[in-house]
Amino acid sequence: MIEAPAGKIDVDRFRARHEAMAAIGATGRGGIDRQALTEAEIEARALVIGWARLRGYALSVDPIGNLFIRRPGRGGGFAPVLAGSHLDSQPNGGNFDGVYGVLAALEVLEALDDGGIETDRPIEVVVWTNEEGARFQPTTMGSAVYVGALPLQQALAVRGRDGVTVSEALACMLRKLPHCADRALATPLHAYVEAHIEQGPILESARRKIGVVLGIQGLRQYAVTVEGTEAHAGTTPRLRRRDAFVAARRIAAEFDRVATDAKDIARLTIGRFDVSPGTTNTIPGKVTMTVDVRHPDEHELERLDRAIREICRERAQPCSASIETLLTSRTVNFATSVVDAVREEAARLGHGALDIMSGATHDAAFLARLCPTGMIFVPCRDGVSHNEAEYTSLENMVAGVEVLAGVVQRLSRREAGVGA
Ligand code: GLV
Ligand code: MN
Ligand code: MN
Repeated sequence: MIEAPAGKIDVDRFRARHEAMAAIGATGRGGIDRQALTEAEIEARALVIGWARLRGYALSVDPIGNLFIRRPGRGGGFAPVLAGSHLDSQPNGGNFDGVYGVLAALEVLEALDDGGIETDRPIEVVVWTNEEGARFQPTTMGSAVYVGALPLQQALAVRGRDGVTVSEALACMLRKLPHCADRALATPLHAYVEAHIEQGPILESARRKIGVVLGIQGLRQYAVTVEGTEAHAGTTPRLRRRDAFVAARRIAAEFDRVATDAKDIARLTIGRFDVSPGTTNTIPGKVTMTVDVRHPDEHELERLDRAIREICRERAQPCSASIETLLTSRTVNFATSVVDAVREEAARLGHGALDIMSGATHDAAFLARLCPTGMIFVPCRDGVSHNEAEYTSLENMVAGVEVLAGVVQRLSRREAGVGA
Protein backbone atom coordinates (compact mmCIF):
# COMPACT_ATOMS: atom_id res chain seq x y z
CA MET A 1 0.00 0.00 0.00
CA ILE A 2 1.46 3.37 -1.01
CA GLU A 3 0.39 6.33 1.13
CA ALA A 4 0.32 9.45 -0.97
CA PRO A 5 -1.59 12.71 -0.99
CA ALA A 6 -3.33 11.32 -4.06
CA GLY A 7 -4.83 8.33 -2.22
CA LYS A 8 -3.88 4.79 -1.36
CA ILE A 9 -2.58 2.97 -4.38
CA ASP A 10 -2.90 -0.77 -3.83
CA VAL A 11 -0.04 -2.41 -5.70
CA ASP A 12 -1.32 -5.96 -5.10
CA ARG A 13 -4.76 -5.09 -6.41
CA PHE A 14 -3.24 -3.47 -9.46
CA ARG A 15 -0.97 -6.44 -10.16
CA ALA A 16 -3.80 -8.95 -9.74
CA ARG A 17 -5.97 -7.01 -12.16
CA HIS A 18 -3.20 -6.74 -14.69
CA GLU A 19 -2.70 -10.50 -14.49
CA ALA A 20 -6.44 -11.16 -14.81
CA MET A 21 -6.56 -9.02 -17.95
CA ALA A 22 -3.57 -10.83 -19.45
CA ALA A 23 -5.57 -14.06 -19.38
CA ILE A 24 -8.32 -12.62 -21.61
CA GLY A 25 -7.49 -13.32 -25.24
CA ALA A 26 -4.14 -14.89 -24.27
CA THR A 27 -2.38 -16.36 -27.30
CA GLY A 28 -0.37 -18.84 -25.25
CA ARG A 29 2.84 -17.20 -26.44
CA GLY A 30 2.89 -14.46 -23.81
CA GLY A 31 0.72 -12.00 -25.69
CA ILE A 32 -2.94 -11.36 -26.40
CA ASP A 33 -5.31 -11.23 -29.34
CA ARG A 34 -8.10 -8.99 -28.09
CA GLN A 35 -9.23 -7.12 -31.15
CA ALA A 36 -11.96 -4.52 -30.87
CA LEU A 37 -15.47 -5.73 -30.00
CA THR A 38 -14.55 -9.42 -30.19
CA GLU A 39 -15.62 -11.89 -27.50
CA ALA A 40 -12.29 -11.32 -25.75
CA GLU A 41 -12.52 -7.54 -25.68
CA ILE A 42 -16.13 -7.72 -24.50
CA GLU A 43 -14.99 -10.07 -21.70
CA ALA A 44 -12.27 -7.60 -20.73
CA ARG A 45 -14.81 -4.79 -20.59
CA ALA A 46 -17.13 -6.98 -18.49
CA LEU A 47 -14.33 -7.53 -15.98
CA VAL A 48 -13.68 -3.79 -15.68
CA ILE A 49 -17.41 -3.12 -15.34
CA GLY A 50 -17.60 -5.72 -12.56
CA TRP A 51 -14.82 -3.98 -10.61
CA ALA A 52 -16.51 -0.61 -11.13
CA ARG A 53 -19.87 -1.92 -9.95
CA LEU A 54 -18.37 -3.23 -6.72
CA ARG A 55 -17.54 0.41 -5.95
CA GLY A 56 -20.92 1.68 -7.07
CA TYR A 57 -19.48 3.89 -9.83
CA ALA A 58 -21.91 5.07 -12.51
CA LEU A 59 -21.49 3.49 -15.96
CA SER A 60 -22.36 4.92 -19.35
CA VAL A 61 -21.75 4.07 -23.00
CA ASP A 62 -21.83 6.43 -25.98
CA PRO A 63 -23.08 5.56 -29.50
CA ILE A 64 -19.67 4.29 -30.65
CA GLY A 65 -19.29 2.09 -27.57
CA ASN A 66 -16.83 4.17 -25.56
CA LEU A 67 -17.37 3.14 -21.92
CA PHE A 68 -17.25 5.67 -19.06
CA ILE A 69 -16.96 4.93 -15.32
CA ARG A 70 -17.68 7.87 -13.07
CA ARG A 71 -16.64 8.64 -9.51
CA PRO A 72 -18.71 11.63 -8.47
CA GLY A 73 -17.25 14.92 -7.34
CA ARG A 74 -18.50 17.12 -4.54
CA GLY A 75 -21.21 18.46 -6.82
CA GLY A 76 -21.86 21.68 -8.63
CA GLY A 77 -22.15 20.29 -12.15
CA PHE A 78 -18.47 20.57 -12.99
CA ALA A 79 -17.13 18.85 -16.09
CA PRO A 80 -15.18 15.69 -15.22
CA VAL A 81 -11.50 14.94 -15.44
CA LEU A 82 -11.15 11.92 -17.71
CA ALA A 83 -8.39 9.30 -17.67
CA GLY A 84 -8.10 5.98 -19.45
CA SER A 85 -7.04 4.23 -22.64
CA HIS A 86 -8.20 1.10 -24.53
CA LEU A 87 -8.60 -2.65 -23.98
CA ASP A 88 -8.37 -3.78 -27.60
CA SER A 89 -5.10 -5.10 -28.98
CA GLN A 90 -3.27 -5.97 -32.16
CA PRO A 91 -3.73 -9.62 -33.32
CA ASN A 92 -0.35 -10.49 -31.78
CA GLY A 93 -0.51 -7.78 -29.14
CA GLY A 94 1.19 -7.33 -25.81
CA ASN A 95 -0.15 -7.07 -22.27
CA PHE A 96 0.52 -3.38 -21.71
CA ASP A 97 -0.52 -1.29 -24.72
CA GLY A 98 -3.86 0.24 -23.72
CA VAL A 99 -4.85 -2.01 -20.84
CA TYR A 100 -2.26 -0.34 -18.63
CA GLY A 101 -3.90 3.08 -19.00
CA VAL A 102 -7.36 1.74 -18.21
CA LEU A 103 -6.22 -0.14 -15.09
CA ALA A 104 -4.10 2.83 -13.98
CA ALA A 105 -7.12 5.14 -14.19
CA LEU A 106 -9.36 2.69 -12.32
CA GLU A 107 -6.69 2.35 -9.63
CA VAL A 108 -6.70 6.14 -9.26
CA LEU A 109 -10.44 6.17 -8.58
CA GLU A 110 -10.16 3.43 -5.99
CA ALA A 111 -7.05 4.93 -4.40
CA LEU A 112 -9.02 8.12 -3.86
CA ASP A 113 -11.86 6.14 -2.29
CA ASP A 114 -9.51 4.18 -0.06
CA GLY A 115 -7.75 7.36 0.97
CA GLY A 116 -11.12 8.95 1.84
CA ILE A 117 -10.40 11.77 -0.59
CA GLU A 118 -13.18 13.78 -2.15
CA THR A 119 -12.64 15.78 -5.32
CA ASP A 120 -14.48 18.86 -6.54
CA ARG A 121 -14.92 17.48 -10.02
CA PRO A 122 -16.09 14.01 -10.98
CA ILE A 123 -13.31 11.74 -12.17
CA GLU A 124 -14.04 9.32 -14.97
CA VAL A 125 -12.30 6.30 -16.46
CA VAL A 126 -12.76 5.75 -20.17
CA VAL A 127 -12.34 2.64 -22.31
CA TRP A 128 -12.11 3.87 -25.91
CA THR A 129 -13.53 1.69 -28.66
CA ASN A 130 -11.21 0.31 -31.35
CA GLU A 131 -8.06 2.28 -30.65
CA GLU A 132 -5.90 -0.17 -32.54
CA GLY A 133 -7.80 -0.22 -35.81
CA ALA A 134 -6.69 -3.81 -36.33
CA ARG A 135 -10.16 -5.29 -36.91
CA PHE A 136 -11.93 -2.12 -38.07
CA GLN A 137 -10.11 0.76 -39.72
CA PRO A 138 -9.18 3.43 -38.82
CA THR A 139 -7.08 3.53 -35.68
CA THR A 140 -8.47 5.64 -32.74
CA MET A 141 -12.01 5.26 -34.07
CA GLY A 142 -13.81 5.76 -30.74
CA SER A 143 -12.09 8.99 -29.80
CA ALA A 144 -12.33 10.37 -33.35
CA VAL A 145 -16.10 9.84 -33.26
CA TYR A 146 -16.36 11.22 -29.70
CA VAL A 147 -14.82 14.56 -30.66
CA GLY A 148 -16.61 14.78 -34.03
CA ALA A 149 -13.56 14.17 -36.25
CA LEU A 150 -15.15 11.05 -37.78
CA PRO A 151 -18.90 10.93 -38.52
CA LEU A 152 -20.66 8.32 -36.37
CA GLN A 153 -22.57 6.80 -39.31
CA GLN A 154 -19.36 6.38 -41.29
CA ALA A 155 -17.69 4.56 -38.39
CA LEU A 156 -20.74 2.33 -37.76
CA ALA A 157 -20.74 1.20 -41.41
CA VAL A 158 -17.10 0.07 -41.40
CA ARG A 159 -16.80 -3.65 -42.16
CA GLY A 160 -13.98 -5.73 -40.71
CA ARG A 161 -12.14 -8.44 -42.60
CA ASP A 162 -14.48 -10.96 -40.94
CA GLY A 163 -17.46 -9.34 -42.72
CA VAL A 164 -18.97 -7.91 -39.50
CA THR A 165 -19.73 -4.19 -39.34
CA VAL A 166 -18.91 -1.96 -36.37
CA SER A 167 -22.63 -1.45 -35.89
CA GLU A 168 -23.27 -5.23 -35.67
CA ALA A 169 -20.30 -5.75 -33.34
CA LEU A 170 -21.51 -2.95 -31.07
CA ALA A 171 -25.01 -4.43 -30.88
CA CYS A 172 -23.46 -7.77 -29.91
CA MET A 173 -21.39 -6.09 -27.20
CA LEU A 174 -24.38 -4.26 -25.74
CA ARG A 175 -26.35 -7.53 -25.56
CA LYS A 176 -23.55 -9.16 -23.59
CA LEU A 177 -22.64 -6.39 -21.14
CA PRO A 178 -24.68 -5.27 -18.14
CA HIS A 179 -26.86 -2.27 -18.83
CA CYS A 180 -25.08 1.10 -18.89
CA ALA A 181 -26.70 4.52 -19.22
CA ASP A 182 -26.54 6.39 -22.54
CA ARG A 183 -23.82 8.97 -22.90
CA ALA A 184 -23.83 11.71 -25.53
CA LEU A 185 -20.84 12.13 -27.82
CA ALA A 186 -18.66 15.16 -27.10
CA THR A 187 -19.93 15.52 -23.52
CA PRO A 188 -17.72 18.36 -22.21
CA LEU A 189 -14.57 17.42 -20.31
CA HIS A 190 -12.37 19.49 -18.04
CA ALA A 191 -9.20 17.61 -19.02
CA TYR A 192 -7.99 14.24 -20.32
CA VAL A 193 -4.90 12.31 -19.15
CA GLU A 194 -3.72 8.97 -20.52
CA ALA A 195 -1.04 6.74 -19.04
CA HIS A 196 0.68 4.42 -21.54
CA ILE A 197 3.87 2.51 -22.16
CA GLU A 198 6.20 4.50 -24.37
CA GLN A 199 6.27 1.85 -27.14
CA GLY A 200 9.74 3.05 -28.12
CA PRO A 201 13.28 2.95 -26.71
CA ILE A 202 13.86 6.53 -25.51
CA LEU A 203 12.98 6.36 -21.79
CA GLU A 204 14.74 3.05 -21.25
CA SER A 205 17.92 4.33 -22.95
CA ALA A 206 17.82 7.51 -20.86
CA ARG A 207 17.11 5.47 -17.68
CA ARG A 208 14.05 7.58 -16.84
CA LYS A 209 10.87 6.26 -15.28
CA ILE A 210 8.41 8.83 -16.54
CA GLY A 211 7.91 10.38 -19.93
CA VAL A 212 6.37 13.85 -19.83
CA VAL A 213 4.60 13.66 -23.17
CA LEU A 214 4.68 16.93 -25.07
CA GLY A 215 2.52 15.79 -27.96
CA ILE A 216 1.92 13.19 -30.66
CA GLN A 217 3.32 13.15 -34.17
CA GLY A 218 0.89 13.45 -37.06
CA LEU A 219 -0.49 10.38 -38.80
CA ARG A 220 -2.26 9.62 -42.04
CA GLN A 221 -3.66 6.25 -42.98
CA TYR A 222 -4.70 5.31 -46.50
CA ALA A 223 -6.16 2.37 -48.40
CA VAL A 224 -4.60 2.02 -51.86
CA THR A 225 -6.31 -0.18 -54.44
CA VAL A 226 -4.47 -1.26 -57.58
CA GLU A 227 -6.59 -2.74 -60.35
CA GLY A 228 -5.42 -4.81 -63.28
CA THR A 229 -6.92 -7.72 -65.19
CA GLU A 230 -7.14 -11.33 -64.08
CA ALA A 231 -5.69 -13.60 -66.75
CA HIS A 232 -4.12 -17.01 -67.17
CA ALA A 233 -0.65 -17.27 -65.62
CA GLY A 234 0.66 -19.72 -68.22
CA THR A 235 -0.63 -18.26 -71.46
CA THR A 236 -0.61 -14.47 -71.15
CA PRO A 237 2.48 -12.82 -72.68
CA ARG A 238 4.19 -10.06 -70.71
CA LEU A 239 2.99 -7.22 -72.95
CA ARG A 240 -0.62 -8.29 -72.53
CA ARG A 241 -0.49 -8.53 -68.78
CA ARG A 242 -2.07 -6.02 -66.45
CA ASP A 243 -0.68 -7.60 -63.28
CA ALA A 244 -1.93 -5.66 -60.24
CA PHE A 245 0.73 -7.21 -58.02
CA VAL A 246 3.59 -6.08 -60.26
CA ALA A 247 2.18 -2.52 -60.28
CA ALA A 248 1.58 -2.60 -56.50
CA ARG A 249 5.17 -3.73 -55.83
CA ARG A 250 6.47 -0.84 -57.92
CA ILE A 251 4.19 1.62 -56.11
CA ALA A 252 5.19 0.25 -52.70
CA ALA A 253 8.89 0.61 -53.52
CA GLU A 254 8.29 4.24 -54.55
CA PHE A 255 6.42 4.92 -51.29
CA ASP A 256 9.46 3.67 -49.39
CA ARG A 257 11.77 5.85 -51.43
CA VAL A 258 9.88 9.11 -50.78
CA ALA A 259 9.60 8.34 -47.06
CA THR A 260 13.32 7.67 -46.60
CA ASP A 261 15.05 10.69 -45.08
CA ALA A 262 18.61 11.18 -43.88
CA LYS A 263 17.60 11.80 -40.26
CA ASP A 264 15.22 8.81 -40.14
CA ILE A 265 12.24 10.83 -38.96
CA ALA A 266 9.48 9.90 -41.40
CA ARG A 267 7.72 6.57 -40.81
CA LEU A 268 5.90 4.70 -43.57
CA THR A 269 4.37 1.25 -43.11
CA ILE A 270 2.45 -0.98 -45.47
CA GLY A 271 0.84 -3.23 -42.87
CA ARG A 272 -1.67 -5.04 -45.00
CA PHE A 273 -1.27 -6.24 -48.55
CA ASP A 274 -4.04 -8.36 -50.08
CA VAL A 275 -3.60 -9.96 -53.50
CA SER A 276 -6.71 -11.08 -55.35
CA PRO A 277 -7.87 -13.60 -56.42
CA GLY A 278 -4.92 -15.17 -54.61
CA THR A 279 -4.45 -18.35 -56.62
CA THR A 280 -1.12 -19.64 -57.92
CA ASN A 281 -2.14 -19.65 -61.56
CA THR A 282 -4.14 -16.44 -62.09
CA ILE A 283 -2.47 -13.10 -62.73
CA PRO A 284 -3.66 -10.86 -59.87
CA GLY A 285 -6.43 -8.49 -60.90
CA LYS A 286 -6.54 -6.50 -57.69
CA VAL A 287 -4.27 -5.55 -54.80
CA THR A 288 -5.31 -3.56 -51.77
CA MET A 289 -2.79 -2.23 -49.28
CA THR A 290 -2.89 -0.01 -46.23
CA VAL A 291 -0.35 2.78 -45.87
CA ASP A 292 0.42 4.37 -42.49
CA VAL A 293 2.55 7.53 -42.64
CA ARG A 294 3.81 9.54 -39.64
CA HIS A 295 5.89 12.65 -39.14
CA PRO A 296 6.07 15.29 -36.39
CA ASP A 297 6.16 18.10 -38.99
CA GLU A 298 2.79 18.72 -40.65
CA HIS A 299 4.46 20.23 -43.74
CA GLU A 300 6.39 17.02 -44.24
CA LEU A 301 3.19 15.01 -43.88
CA GLU A 302 1.61 17.22 -46.55
CA ARG A 303 4.59 16.62 -48.81
CA LEU A 304 4.35 12.87 -48.27
CA ASP A 305 0.61 12.98 -48.93
CA ARG A 306 1.21 14.72 -52.30
CA ALA A 307 4.02 12.32 -53.20
CA ILE A 308 1.91 9.24 -52.40
CA ARG A 309 -0.96 10.51 -54.54
CA GLU A 310 1.38 11.31 -57.41
CA ILE A 311 2.94 7.83 -57.25
CA CYS A 312 -0.54 6.28 -57.45
CA ARG A 313 -1.31 8.43 -60.52
CA GLU A 314 2.01 8.03 -62.31
CA ARG A 315 3.37 4.58 -61.49
CA ALA A 316 0.40 2.22 -61.83
CA GLN A 317 0.44 1.76 -65.65
CA PRO A 318 -0.75 -0.41 -67.30
CA CYS A 319 -2.95 -0.85 -64.21
CA SER A 320 -4.77 1.90 -62.31
CA ALA A 321 -4.49 2.88 -58.65
CA SER A 322 -6.90 4.74 -56.39
CA ILE A 323 -6.35 6.04 -52.89
CA GLU A 324 -8.76 6.55 -50.00
CA THR A 325 -7.81 8.49 -46.87
CA LEU A 326 -8.82 6.50 -43.79
CA LEU A 327 -7.49 8.79 -41.07
CA THR A 328 -5.95 12.22 -40.70
CA SER A 329 -4.58 12.94 -37.25
CA ARG A 330 -2.58 16.15 -37.14
CA THR A 331 0.53 16.63 -35.02
CA VAL A 332 -0.67 17.60 -31.56
CA ASN A 333 1.06 19.66 -28.88
CA PHE A 334 -0.51 18.98 -25.50
CA ALA A 335 -1.80 21.73 -23.19
CA THR A 336 0.95 23.32 -21.11
CA SER A 337 -1.24 23.08 -18.01
CA VAL A 338 -1.42 19.30 -18.22
CA VAL A 339 2.18 18.82 -19.37
CA ASP A 340 3.40 20.95 -16.45
CA ALA A 341 1.23 18.99 -14.01
CA VAL A 342 2.80 15.71 -15.21
CA ARG A 343 6.32 17.14 -14.93
CA GLU A 344 5.69 18.56 -11.46
CA GLU A 345 4.07 15.40 -10.11
CA ALA A 346 6.94 13.27 -11.40
CA ALA A 347 9.40 15.62 -9.67
CA ARG A 348 7.39 15.65 -6.43
CA LEU A 349 7.39 11.85 -6.38
CA GLY A 350 11.10 11.70 -7.15
CA HIS A 351 10.70 9.83 -10.44
CA GLY A 352 13.32 10.74 -13.03
CA ALA A 353 11.42 12.22 -15.97
CA LEU A 354 12.11 13.18 -19.55
CA ASP A 355 10.16 15.34 -21.99
CA ILE A 356 9.21 13.22 -24.95
CA MET A 357 7.15 13.38 -28.16
CA SER A 358 5.00 10.33 -28.86
CA GLY A 359 5.83 8.38 -31.99
CA ALA A 360 2.77 6.16 -31.56
CA THR A 361 -0.67 7.65 -31.83
CA HIS A 362 -3.24 7.57 -29.05
CA ASP A 363 -6.82 8.59 -28.37
CA ALA A 364 -5.29 11.60 -26.63
CA ALA A 365 -4.51 13.00 -30.11
CA PHE A 366 -8.24 13.48 -30.74
CA LEU A 367 -9.14 14.41 -27.16
CA ALA A 368 -6.77 17.35 -27.45
CA ARG A 369 -9.34 18.89 -29.83
CA LEU A 370 -11.96 18.84 -27.09
CA CYS A 371 -10.14 19.66 -23.86
CA PRO A 372 -6.68 20.23 -22.35
CA THR A 373 -4.93 16.89 -22.70
CA GLY A 374 -1.72 15.19 -21.67
CA MET A 375 -0.07 11.79 -21.39
CA ILE A 376 2.25 9.98 -19.01
CA PHE A 377 4.66 7.41 -20.45
CA VAL A 378 6.51 4.63 -18.66
CA PRO A 379 9.43 2.82 -20.31
CA CYS A 380 9.07 -0.52 -22.04
CA ARG A 381 11.75 -3.17 -22.48
CA ASP A 382 13.88 -2.70 -25.59
CA GLY A 383 11.25 -0.29 -26.89
CA VAL A 384 9.24 -3.26 -28.14
CA SER A 385 5.49 -2.88 -28.68
CA HIS A 386 2.80 -4.25 -31.01
CA ASN A 387 4.51 -7.52 -30.26
CA GLU A 388 3.75 -10.31 -27.80
CA ALA A 389 7.12 -9.69 -26.12
CA GLU A 390 6.03 -6.20 -25.02
CA TYR A 391 6.99 -5.73 -21.35
CA THR A 392 7.36 -3.21 -18.58
CA SER A 393 7.92 -3.85 -14.87
CA LEU A 394 5.32 -3.52 -12.13
CA GLU A 395 7.57 -0.87 -10.61
CA ASN A 396 7.39 1.24 -13.77
CA MET A 397 3.64 0.81 -14.00
CA VAL A 398 3.13 1.83 -10.39
CA ALA A 399 5.30 4.93 -10.86
CA GLY A 400 2.98 5.93 -13.71
CA VAL A 401 -0.11 5.29 -11.58
CA GLU A 402 1.32 7.51 -8.84
CA VAL A 403 1.93 10.34 -11.29
CA LEU A 404 -1.51 9.87 -12.85
CA ALA A 405 -3.16 9.97 -9.42
CA GLY A 406 -1.39 13.22 -8.56
CA VAL A 407 -2.17 14.85 -11.90
CA VAL A 408 -5.83 13.82 -11.88
CA GLN A 409 -6.28 15.02 -8.34
CA ARG A 410 -4.74 18.38 -9.16
CA LEU A 411 -6.87 18.84 -12.26
CA SER A 412 -9.98 17.87 -10.33
CA ARG A 413 -9.82 20.99 -8.18
CA ARG A 414 -12.65 23.36 -8.91
CA GLU A 415 -10.33 26.31 -9.28
CA ALA A 416 -7.94 24.47 -11.60
CA GLY A 417 -8.44 26.78 -14.57
CA VAL A 418 -7.79 24.22 -17.27
CA GLY A 419 -10.83 23.30 -19.34
CA ALA A 420 -14.65 23.36 -19.10
C1 GLV B 1 -1.44 2.93 -32.07
O1 GLV B 1 -1.62 1.77 -31.85
C2 GLV B 1 -0.67 3.42 -33.17
O2 GLV B 1 -0.87 2.94 -34.30
O3 GLV B 1 0.23 4.26 -32.98
MN1 MN C 1 -2.28 2.05 -27.17
MN1 MN D 1 -1.34 -0.03 -30.09
